[in-house]
Amino acid sequence: MQTLAYVVGARPNFPKMAPVERALRARLPGWRHVCIHTGQHYDAELSEMFLRELDVPPPTYLLGVGSGTHGAQTARALERIEEVLVREEPEYVLVPGDVNSTLAAALAAAKLNIPVGHIEAGLRSFDRTMPEELNRILVDQLAEHCFVHSEEAVDNLRHEGVRGERVVFAGNTMIDTLVRMRPAIDRSDVRARLGLDDRGYLLVTLHRPALVDGPLLDDAIERLETLADHLPVVFPVHPRTRARLAGRPRSALQLVDPLGYIDFLALEARAAGVLTDSGGVQEETTFLGVPCFTLRDSTERPITLTEGTNSLLGLDPEALDALPELLAQPPRLLRPPRGWDGHAAERIADAVVSALDAEVPLAAAGGARV
Ligand code: UD1
Ligand code: UDP
Repeated sequence: MQTLAYVVGARPNFPKMAPVERALRARLPGWRHVCIHTGQHYDAELSEMFLRELDVPPPTYLLGVGSGTHGAQTARALERIEEVLVREEPEYVLVPGDVNSTLAAALAAAKLNIPVGHIEAGLRSFDRTMPEELNRILVDQLAEHCFVHSEEAVDNLRHEGVRGERVVFAGNTMIDTLVRMRPAIDRSDVRARLGLDDRGYLLVTLHRPALVDGPLLDDAIERLETLADHLPVVFPVHPRTRARLAGRPRSALQLVDPLGYIDFLALEARAAGVLTDSGGVQEETTFLGVPCFTLRDSTERPITLTEGTNSLLGLDPEALDALPELLAQPPRLLRPPRGWDGHAAERIADAVVSALDAEVPLAAAGGARV
């Protein structure tokens, strides 16, 4: 039986991959669909809960890679993914985003001469101190198809010599998930459970090493505590950040465990604003029309600045003092960027199906050739 493989590993991978796997299962019912979960993220609220909520079949393989240094984590994932690919012999491997599991999967597959499709290709922060930036550059070089969700990604790839049939404008599969889950998101009672009023709170997520692995996190927390005197601040804490906050005295912030997808999106959708250093959250807030403030020096998603609701504050937490003023400004009125329409995964699936049949040109597949 012919086989397709999907590799996921960390929280942001799941909403990007789920609609693609669903669309390909529908188009290729006679094929074997193998989902490989590296286990880079293993806490239930970062992994299992997502798979349940997003209604995808349980992974075929759970590789138990776990945490470690970049080298150790990527190497374990590489070795274990390779074993599965050798056993399953897929015709094609799909990988999403920019985490270490993405790089390991793309490298394992490419070395076995299995074509790789990279979902969310071409994003660049131009900051090579970010581990994700190195993963993005390398995966795009290894991939047979780079599925992009914005024009700037096409330009970035062109500058790195990736062009022509390898680049397919597909749109944003993370937004496909949001659109599909919208009824469940709207039904969530998370605001009532947390005692939050509609548009009456700031939602915070911070997990990037540049912020949380050094002294900046304490400064940011202190400034947010001042803000919390006027506006409730709810902060679902990522495990990397949790480890750094352990031992701090009780805070004026509502520090909660990471939330499942539905409850988190329900908080995003009705927040007065969102403060983040997450990649995915910058995109979701643009789609939802909710003001987003990104505590970083750069973003690999500039379309959220030019066509969305995102503002880049810089990495210095002093910028947080301006939040009351920024939150008082009227929200920007806009339309979601092109291809952020709930149908990106279908375009990717059409392109993959066409590419698997050498007789059918890629341009006829629904994903426009760039
Ligand atoms: C990873 C990705 C990052 C992404 C983020 C999404 C890389 C290089 N980084 O960062 O791009 O934005 O996921 O959330 O791939 N931990 C737990 N439980 C878990 C997972 C991790 O407690 O289920 C703790 C461990 O102490 C671990 C630390 O979090 O050492 C960091 O985990 P890791 O997967 O290495 O990186 P993230 O910071 O989660
Ligand atoms: N998210 C979630 N619960 C949380 C925090 C984030 O469901 O407590 C979702 C968020 O809405 C988005 C995804 O997780 O869909 C983004 O993951 P993350 O911020 O960990 O990674 P990044 O996008 O920065 O790589």
